[in-house]
Amino acid sequence: MRVIPVFFTLHAVAALVSAQLALPIPPFLPANASSGAEPSAGGYPNPAWANLLGDLIYFYDEQRSGTLPSTNRVPWRNDSLILEGLDVGIDLTGGFYDAGDFSKDTFPLSFVLMSLCWGATDFGKGYDLANQTAYLDDTLRWGLDWLIKAHPNATTLVVMVASADKDGSYWGGDRSIPSPRPVFTITNDNPGTDAAAGAAAAFAACSNLYANRAFDNKAYSAPASLKNDSYASTLLSHAQTLYTFAANATGGRKTYQTSVPQAASIYGSSGYGDELAMAALFLAQATGSPATYQEAESYWTKYDLASSNRVFNWDSKTPGLPVLFAQVNQANSGLGGNLTTWMAVAESYFDDIVNNKGPGFTTGDGLLFFDGDSDDASLNPALNTAMLLERYVPIASTPEKQVAYQTFAKSQVDYALGKNTMSVPYIVGVNPNSPQNPHSAMASGGINVDEIDTVPAQEAYVLYGAVVGGPDKRGRFFDIRSDWPQTEVALDYNAPMLTLAAMHTIGDTKDPYFTALKEGAYAQVKPKGQPCDAAIRDGCQGHRLSKKATIAMAIVLAVVGLVVVGLSAWYLALLFRPAHLGLSKAG
Ligand SMILES: *[C@@H]1O[C@H](CO)[C@@H](O)[C@H](O)[C@H]1NC(C)=O
Ligand SMILES: *[C@@H]1O[C@H](CO)[C@@H](O)[C@H](O)[C@H]1NC(C)=O
Ligand SMILES: *[C@@H]1O[C@H](CO)[C@@H](O)[C@H](O)[C@H]1NC(C)=O
Ligand SMILES: *[C@@H]1O[C@H](CO)[C@@H](O)[C@H](O)[C@H]1NC(C)=O
Ligand SMILES: *[C@@H]1O[C@H](CO)[C@@H](O)[C@H](O)[C@H]1NC(C)=O
Ligand SMILES: *[C@@H]1O[C@H](CO)[C@@H](O)[C@H](O)[C@H]1NC(C)=O
Ligand SMILES: *[C@@H]1O[C@H](CO)[C@@H](O)[C@H](O)[C@H]1NC(C)=O
Repeated sequence: MRVIPVFFTLHAVAALVSAQLALPIPPFLPANASSGAEPSAGGYPNPAWANLLGDLIYFYDEQRSGTLPSTNRVPWRNDSLILEGLDVGIDLTGGFYDAGDFSKDTFPLSFVLMSLCWGATDFGKGYDLANQTAYLDDTLRWGLDWLIKAHPNATTLVVMVASADKDGSYWGGDRSIPSPRPVFTITNDNPGTDAAAGAAAAFAACSNLYANRAFDNKAYSAPASLKNDSYASTLLSHAQTLYTFAANATGGRKTYQTSVPQAASIYGSSGYGDELAMAALFLAQATGSPATYQEAESYWTKYDLASSNRVFNWDSKTPGLPVLFAQVNQANSGLGGNLTTWMAVAESYFDDIVNNKGPGFTTGDGLLFFDGDSDDASLNPALNTAMLLERYVPIASTPEKQVAYQTFAKSQVDYALGKNTMSVPYIVGVNPNSPQNPHSAMASGGINVDEIDTVPAQEAYVLYGAVVGGPDKRGRFFDIRSDWPQTEVALDYNAPMLTLAAMHTIGDTKDPYFTALKEGAYAQVKPKGQPCDAAIRDGCQGHRLSKKATIAMAIVLAVVGLVVVGLSAWYLALLFRPAHLGLSKAG
C-alpha cells in the first residue's frame, strides 16, 4: 500500500471548503453549433457575444487536470493524473493541460493568467453582464491554485511537468496518460528569471483583479465582481516573493531553459527583460511603490526592450509594456512616471501597425501577420494585437487615433470570427463552419498517433470554445487534425479572445460575425491540395511530393546518378584505354 503524504489528503479537504463565487444552477453550457448560424434575439447585452464569452471560458474547463469538482460541466472529461508530483514530494495535481497534448507548462500558463486577469480588470463588466463572472473566478482559481502549489517556497518554482513517454507522442484519452511524469524546477542556484518574473506578473495582475485595483475608472469598466481581499493578498505575497527570486537569485539572471534545457524546444524564452518589467509594473500598481515603478523603467532601458517591440505573445510581452506603463501612470500620478512619454511609445507602435508599416503586415484577406511569429498559430499575434489596441483606445491622444485603432482591432476580431476567404469562424463549435478537426488528443477520441487523421473519422467530442491556430499566410485553412500549426488549441490562443469578447459584450449590440455564416459556406471554398507548414510539407512549392515519394525519388536519382557515374567511368576507361592512346599497337 502506498502512503499518501498528508498534503494530498489536506488538499482534498481544502478543496471542499475553499469558498468562491457560487456557480449558476443550472450551469451555463455551450449551445450546439447550428444555433450559431442564426441571428441572435438582440438586446443588451447581445446574447451571441455573451454566449461566445461563455464558450471561450468553457474551453478551460475542458483542459482541466486533476480531480474534477462536482460542478464539472464537461461530460466527457474524467479525473486524470490525480497523484501528480507525489513522487517528487510536491502536490502538482490540478492545473490545466497546455494544448492538444498533456504537458503542464508554467511559463505560458503564467502569461495566460496574467492576460485573463488584466482583461477582467479592464473589461470586467462584460463578464458580469454575461453572467460569466463565477466561471471566470472558477477558471482563474483552477490555474492560480496550481501555480501556488508549483511555488512551494521562496526560491523554488516548478516550470514544467512534461510527458512521461520519451518523445511526448502519447495520443489518447485522459484515462491512460503515461505517468509519473518528470517535474522540472528552477531554484536559487539554477534560476529562470523569465519564468519567475512571468509567474510574479500573473500573481500581481490577478491580485489587482481580486482586490478591485482598477486602472483609471473613467477609461475602463469596473473589474469583474469577484472581489476577495484575502485571496488577493495571498496572490500578492506570491508575486513579491517571485519577483525577488527573479531579480536576485544567487545563480544570477538567466533564461529558464539555461537551467532546464528540456524546456528549450517546448517553450524556450527569448529573454527576461520583458517579464521583469511586466512584473514590476503590476506590482507598482498593486503597492503604489515608486521604487518598483522605477525598476520597471530601468529594465526597459537596461534590456533595450524598445528594440524587441514586435509581437505580443507568451514569450514576448514587450508591445504590452508601453500600454501598461501608460495605464499605470494614468492611474497613479504619484509614481514619478511620465504618461506622455509612454503614450508616444505605444502610439508609434500602433500607428505603424494600423498603417501597415510593420512590424507585421496585413495579408491579402485581411489578417495581421508577423513573418516567423505567425507561421504557426497565425491568429494569436493578430488577436493579441487587437486586444492591446482596444485596451489602449481610451488613452489614445486623438479621436482619429481612437477610431483607427478600434477599426483595425475590429477587423481582426471579425476575421477570426469568420469574415475571411474561408468563411470559417476559428472557434470550435460556435457555427457549422467552425473547425471540425482541432488538434486535441482528448477531444479526438483517437489512440494511435499514426492514424491521427483517420481514426476516428469524426472527432469523438466537440471541443466547444477552443480557438484554433488559424489559416496560413494565403488565408487557406485545411482543417486537418495532424496539422498543428493550423488546428491545435492552446490555453494562450483563447486568452486574448476572452478579453475581446468581454469588451464586445459591454459595447457591441451587433452579433459576432459568424451568425451570418450559413452551413456549407466553408465546404464551397475549402482549399484543394495540402498545407505547407511546420507539420505538413506536402503542399510546399518544390516539395510537391509526399515524404515517401521524396524518398523514392531520391533513391531513383541516386541510382540514375550511380549509373551515369558508372557509364562515364566506363566511357572514360574506354576512351583512355591503351588502344586509344595508341599503345596497343606498340603492344
Ligand atoms: C475568499 O477566498 C478565500 C481563499 O480562497 C476563501 O477561503 C474565502 O472563503 C473567500 N471569501 C469569500 C467571501 O468568498
Ligand atoms: C441544435 O440546436 C437547434 C436550435 O437550438 C436545434 O433545433 C437542433 O435540434 C440542435 N441540434 C442538435 C444536433 O442538437
Ligand atoms: C443573466 O442573469 C440574469 C438574472 O438571472 C438574467 O436576467 C439575464 O438574462 C442573464 N443574462 C445573460 C446574458 O445570460
Ligand atoms: C523548497 O521546496 C523544494 C521542493 O519541495 C525542496 O526540495 C527544497 O528543499 C525547499 N527549499 C527550502 C529552502 O525550503
Ligand atoms: C472519459 O471516460 C469515459 C468512460 O471510460 C470515456 O468514454 C471517455 O472517452 C473518457 N474521456 C477522455 C477524454 O478520454
Ligand atoms: C535585490 O537585492 C537588492 C540588494 O539587496 C535590493 O535592494 C533589491 O530590492 C532586491 N530586489 C528585489 C526585486 O527584491
Ligand atoms: C513628459 O515628457 C514630455 C516629453 O515626452 C515632456 O514634454 C514633459 O514635460 C514631461 N512631463 C513631466 C511632468 O515631466
